[in-house]
Parts: sequence; structure tokens; C-alpha cells
Amino acid sequence: MKILDNSNKHLSLILPDIILKKLNKKVAEFKFIGGGSYGKVYKVLLSDGGIIAVKAYKLQEMQKEEERQLGVLSENTSVKMPEVLFTYEDDDTAILAMTFVEGHNVLNPLFLLKSRKVKQKFTGDVVSGMLEWHSMTNNKFGFLSNPVYDSWYDFYKTEMQQPWLCGLEKLCDKGNFSRKKLNLLKEASKIFDCVCPEDSTPVLIHGDLNIMNIMADTKSFNLIAFIDPCGSMWADREYDLFQFRNMWGDAYRLYETYKHKCSLSEYADFRVAYYGAMLEASMRLKGGYIVPLWEDLNFIRLKKEMKKLKEKM
Ligand SMILES: Nc1ncnc2c1ncn2[C@@H]1O[C@H](COP(=O)(O)OP(=O)(O)OP(=O)(O)O)[C@@H](O)[C@H]1O
Ligand SMILES: [Mg+2]
Repeated sequence: MKILDNSNKHLSLILPDIILKKLNKKVAEFKFIGGGSYGKVYKVLLSDGGIIAVKAYKLQEMQKEEERQLGVLSENTSVKMPEVLFTYEDDDTAILAMTFVEGHNVLNPLFLLKSRKVKQKFTGDVVSGMLEWHSMTNNKFGFLSNPVYDSWYDFYKTEMQQPWLCGLEKLCDKGNFSRKKLNLLKEASKIFDCVCPEDSTPVLIHGDLNIMNIMADTKSFNLIAFIDPCGSMWADREYDLFQFRNMWGDAYRLYETYKHKCSLSEYADFRVAYYGAMLEASMRLKGGYIVPLWEDLNFIRLKKEMKKLKEKM
């Protein structure tokens, strides 16, 4: 797995030529505006006054996957999403250029100070937008490119749970992952195997709708756009929900509001906590950037839900 250079320095050497070839426009300036696990996003000012966003990835092919996912998701929600302008790749580079979205991502702590009413409106709009995806059904579970599984359990176990636990075991053996955390995930996996939903329908999910991937107007806190799908698939609807509590917890009551609008089955709280901890740990296997605090919060939530479940069973 080759890790690509998505630095400002690398892009400054190649981006002006690429944009000239692809869009027939000159670059006036560009600057880094944000980045998470696998991508770095740059705001590019063009000499004709236009602004675009360019995302550069650490791994090849991610630009094509994001293009596919943005295409399917934007067709199935009324919330705005960036429009793809082009993708480009060479041996050292993978990028996707898209329309620039105004506003700010909702990780900005200033949004926490908004009034309850304003926050409620924002949350209602986010959940409604997500429910539009969740009303799109498919006859198989799986990745958008190739959904082949008849059950959510088979899909999750085969493509995620087992490979991730195996990979984490190897990391543990090398001393690069906590044995205590792995044992907790193994124990939780056994419980999950007993309480996995049996009769769920495959629905379209974004897969990474945390507050960093939701853009809002800085003044009004109106929802502007959903961005950055990296795990869009045909899945059990609950698999879209753990990201709602990532980072500031459920400060905007996104998870609670979803549950209120669309009731979830028994054990959903445990499963959602389990999916969150598993995904966060799995980021270590894909060269992803780990924020130890987010990982710890996911594990604390999982422990809490396991305790609740044990008391109930
Ligand atoms: N089209 C866009 N217009 C304006 N700002 C954007 C756009 N795309 C991304 N951003 C900003 O850049 C930040 C990082 O972008 P994004 O979420 O796509 O990358 P990432 O989290 O690094 O990706 P990944 O989760 O795939 O590793 C966003 O939180 C947002 O603030
Ligand atoms: Mg993101």
C-alpha cells in the first residue's frame, strides 16, 4: 500500500498545470483548509475569480470511490453536496476537484453556543436529509460498486469485523495496539454476533456523517451541505448512526432525534457503540490519522453499553 504525498509542497508543483489542462483556468492561489484521516482539502482561487475545492488523498483510487459515492448520494437527498469537477491521478498523486461549499464544518465549537431552537432546526434538517437516503432500498447489502450480500450480518462480518480483528491482532503482536482494547472488541464482537439485527433491509448510507462532514452557515447555523462520504454503501440503517456521536458526543442531539423520528430496534444503542469503536480502531489498519481522544471516547461508550446490556440480559 503506497502512501501518496498530499502535502501543500507537492501540490504546489503540479496543481496549476493540472487545473490548466482540466478546466482551462489559471490558479491564482491555494491554501490548505482541512483534512482528516485520508485526505487534505485545499481552497483554490482561480484567476477568473472562481473558487474550487481540491481534495488530495493518501491512497490511490480513493478519488474515484469518493466521486462514485458523491454521485449516488447527491441524487438521493435534497441537501446540497459538492459537485465533482474532475479527478486526476499519477504515480504519486490522487486528487478530486469539486465545487466549493461556503460556510464552516460543524466541528467549529462556536456552533455549540447557538440557541436551543436554532440547534433543533439544524438537527431536524440533518436528520431529514439522512432519512431521504435511508428511504432508498436495495435487494442486497454491500459496497456501492458490488453489493452481493443477502444479510447485513454476513456483509459486516466478512468485510469488516473479521478482517479488522485479524489486522488488530497482528498490530497487537507488534506492540502497536493495546491488548486491553483488542480484548474488549473481541468480547463485544461475541455479543454483537448474538444481537445482530436479523431482518434488516439494505438502505443507502453516507457512512461518515460526523459533524466535520456537515457544513453550516456560520451566522444562521442553517445546514448548507453534506460532504465527504467515504463509507457509503447498502447497509443496515443503524450503521449510519455512530458518526452522529463522534467528536462532541451527541451535542446536537442528532442520534437522539433520529431515534425519535424513526424508532430503532432493541440493542441498537449497543450496536451503534460497537460499530463506532470497531471503525475507529480499524483506522490504524489503513494508514489513517488517529485522534486518541476520539478513539477513547468510542471505547468508553462501548464499555458503557456493554455494561447496560449485561444488566439487561
Ligand atoms: N467542497 C468543499 N467546499 C468547502 N470546504 C470543504 C469542501 N470539502 C471539504 N471541505 C473542508 O475541508 C475539511 C476536510 O474535508 P473532508 O472532510 O472532505 O476531508 P477528510 O475528512 O480529510 O477526508 P477523509 O475523512 O476522507 O479522510 C472539511 O471538514 C471542510 O471544512
Ligand atoms: Mg471529513
